[in-house]
Amino acid sequence: MLTTKEAIEKRRSIRKFKPDSIANEYIRELLNAARLAPSGCNAQPWRFKVVKDAATKAKLAQAAYDQSFISQAPVVIVCCADVQGYFDGTVSGAQDLGKIGAIEGRIVTILEGRAEAFKTIERSELGPRIASNVAIAIEHIVLRALDYGLGSCWIRLIDEQKVKELFGWDDNIYIVALLPIGYPAEIPDARKRLELNEIIIE
Ligand SMILES: Cc1cc2nc3c(=O)[nH]c(=O)nc-3n(C[C@H](O)[C@H](O)[C@H](O)COP(=O)(O)O)c2cc1C
Repeated sequence: MLTTKEAIEKRRSIRKFKPDSIANEYIRELLNAARLAPSGCNAQPWRFKVVKDAATKAKLAQAAYDQSFISQAPVVIVCCADVQGYFDGTVSGAQDLGKIGAIEGRIVTILEGRAEAFKTIERSELGPRIASNVAIAIEHIVLRALDYGLGSCWIRLIDEQKVKELFGWDDNIYIVALLPIGYPAEIPDARKRLELNEIIIE
C-alpha cells in the first residue's frame, strides 16, 4: 500500500493499457474511495457509470474527439454530477451559510441574516458549479487505483452532449469527465511542473 505522498508522486496520466480486466472488487474499492470525498453541503452529487462493453467504450472514445486510447482501457468510468438533489430537497443545508431550496425550478441559496437575502442559480448553471465536488471524488479514484497497480487518465476533452445521448441522460446529469482505467502498458516520465515559487502569490 502506498503512502499518500508516494501515490501523489507516482501518479501519471496513463494512455496505454494492457488488455487485462479489472476485478469487480477493485472497481468497488475505487468507487468507495470516491464516495468518501468531501462535498459542499455534503451533497455528494457524484454519479458514476462503469463501462466495460467494447462498443460503448468505442462510442465514448468517439465522443472524446476520437481519443482512441480510451477504448483500449478495460474500464471507462463516466463521471457525472447529478443536480436533481438540489431541486428535490435532498441537498438541504449549507451549514452556517443558510439553506438551499428550489423555487420555480431555480436553486435558491438563502443566506440567512446576510446583506444579500438570496441568490438564484439556474438549473443549467448548476452542473459546472458543483463539478468541483465530482473532481475531488475522481482524484480519490485516480490515487486509490495506484494501490492496485492501476493507471488512469482524466479525460475532459469531450462532447458532453454526445455522452449524454449515448446513455439517454437528461439535463439533471452534467458530464464532468471520463476516466479510462487499466493496468499500464507504458508509464510515461513525469511531466514538468512549475516550481513552488512560481505558484505562490506573495
Ligand atoms: C481536468 C483534466 C482534463 C484532462 N483532459 C485530458 C484529455 O482530454 N485527454 C488526455 O489525453 N489527457 C487529459 N488530461 C491529462 C493531462 O494532459 C495531464 O494530467 C497533464 O499533461 C500532466 O501529466 P500527468 O498527469 O502525467 O502528470 C486531463 C487532465 C485533467 C486534470
